[in-house]
Amino acid sequence: MSEEVTTYLTYAETKEHSDRDDLYMVIHGKVYDCTKFVDEHPGGEEVLTEVGGVDATDVFEDVGHSDEARKILDDLFVADLHPDEVVVSTKAAPSGGSSSSSSSSGSSFLVLISLVVLGVAGYFAYQQTVANSSE
Ligand code: HEM
Repeated sequence: MSEEVTTYLTYAETKEHSDRDDLYMVIHGKVYDCTKFVDEHPGGEEVLTEVGGVDATDVFEDVGHSDEARKILDDLFVADLHPDEVVVSTKAAPSGGSSSSSSSSGSSFLVLISLVVLGVAGYFAYQQTVANSSE
């Protein structure tokens, strides 16, 4: 008979693995064992040991790691962080879509149109003034 065991780690447990030779870190609520990856990390070992045993989500996302880097994470997965301790980061992983710029480009188009209209109106007002003064 097998019992289903859901393994969670707490921050306290994760902190027990904060040395270069035994290095866990938390990214997006999951705990990763980076011990074997320290030597291979293109960004160097120091940045990894600095976040040993703690949450590295923000620094990981700030670097803008590639999909390749995220695939490596899958191999390093150890356990989920205990749900009571998960804090959702404001730095979401990139979704791949880029639909956010449409509203801002729409408003700059309106500003451009307004400037053109003002320019044309100003030109006609100027012409009118010149015509009036030469009569
Ligand atoms: C286990 C977690 C991590 C993995 C699997 C990982 C993986 C990688 C990979 C594959 C690259 C090459 C570029 C890319 O594909 O994005 C990279 C670059 C880099 N990583 Fe990480 N990384 C991890 C954690 C971190 C952390 C916590 C930091 C802290 C700041 C960091 C800082 C950097 C930097 C600065 C580079 C750029 C190196 C360069 O281009 O010179 N990484 N990482």
